[in-house]
Amino acid sequence: MRLFTALATTTTLLTAPAFAQAMEADVANGESEFARQCVSCHVIADESGEVLAGRAGRIGPNLHGVIGRQPGAVEDFRYSDAIVAYGELAPADDKTGAAPQGDDFDTVVWGKDNTIAYLEDPTAFLRDALDDPRARSKMAYKVRDAQAAVDIQAYLATFSPDFELPGAAMEGDAAMEDEAMDEEAGSAN
Ligand code: HEC
Repeated sequence: MRLFTALATTTTLLTAPAFAQAMEADVANGESEFARQCVSCHVIADESGEVLAGRAGRIGPNLHGVIGRQPGAVEDFRYSDAIVAYGELAPADDKTGAAPQGDDFDTVVWGKDNTIAYLEDPTAFLRDALDDPRARSKMAYKVRDAQAAVDIQAYLATFSPDFELPGAAMEGDAAMEDEAMDEEAGSAN
């Protein structure tokens, strides 16, 4: 019984709201949050131009396939220098450590943690990632609710069915970001 309690406590800790990456994502809620918060500036339109979400938002780039894509890479969209610079970093050079890491990636791509952090504060995220206090995103919007950011990221990922995060084959969202947490999970199992 004692052991059971210890396990339960560990699980609670790992799913506590402070760990955005461990939060369960609700794709349906992400869809409605996207419709509420994002469509004034963004559309999701596939290669043929068919609009899958939103209306005609053109202030921001088309977000179709954005998860797994290099930041700042939509042709003909005039991005800020900051987001283009972010997209040119090697994954290991993202100072926040939030970009998907590994040999599969020559540059940073939008994965899970970096997208969530970006949505919560685009300019602050780019400043941290680039270690440049003067970096500035052109996206003048912040998702105020951490759970909404998690849900929206999961919704965006449904438009990138072929993209798999490194480590995603590990147990669900508990796929840990660093070895310390890996070990903790290992000893709990
Ligand atoms: C007020 C307009 C506006 C709103 C609202 C807005 N965005 Fe943006 N978004 C932009 C602009 C402009 C950019 C380009 C940023 C740059 O160049 O620095 C952008 C960039 C992005 C990018 C990076 C795209 C790429 O190609 O690298 C993502 C991802 C993104 N937005 C997601 C969202 C989501 C999800 C929402 C809703 C929660 C949202 N945005 C709300 C204007 C907006």
